[in-house]
Amino acid sequence: MTSFTPDHDHARAFRDALGSFATGVTVVTIPSATGPQGLTANSFASLSLAPPLVLWSPGKFSRRHDLFAQAPYFSVHVLAEDQRDLAERFTRGGAQFDGLDLAASPEHVPVIPGVLTRFDCALHDSHDAGDHTLVIGHVLRVEAGRGRPLVFAQGDWGAHRPL
Ligand SMILES: Cc1cc2nc3c(=O)[nH]c(=O)nc-3n(C[C@H](O)[C@H](O)[C@H](O)COP(=O)(O)O)c2cc1C
Repeated sequence: MTSFTPDHDHARAFRDALGSFATGVTVVTIPSATGPQGLTANSFASLSLAPPLVLWSPGKFSRRHDLFAQAPYFSVHVLAEDQRDLAERFTRGGAQFDGLDLAASPEHVPVIPGVLTRFDCALHDSHDAGDHTLVIGHVLRVEAGRGRPLVFAQGDWGAHRPL
């Protein structure tokens, strides 16, 4: 074990320490004046069962931060273990929706068919949070599929292996 204060000199070590927390992988989608937008995010988390709330955080480093932080409706797609290609599409420089089958939620949010789970959300609240914005969504609808989740940990894609 090493011990450090997460100051400027320990930025890398802090990132690595946070990366020890394994997460699922999501693509958050919104409509926009310039067309559908998608962003791969692992900051997604459950927050409340009643009322049904979830959270995620767009980074201020994203050129599309304001669009994602302010969207009145958004959909969170939880990816399956064989959907790494989808995750990579929606990182910087990725193909986004090019050549992808697209549908729309009743709230007119672009949605990607065939993911593990989808949460259609209305913006509930948002908070400034350092170099990110904390976005809280009220879940309007859940589309639940079957399969196993894609995992992200220690900077790598992976799969969930039940013990
Ligand atoms: C596994 C993984 C998780 C990510 N999680 C987030 C996230 O939670 N929030 C975020 O803003 N960007 C996250 N990103 C980065 C975005 O997917 C994307 O590359 C970047 O925000 C796009 O910036 P742009 O809008 O300027 O193109 C993540 C990237 C990867 C590969």
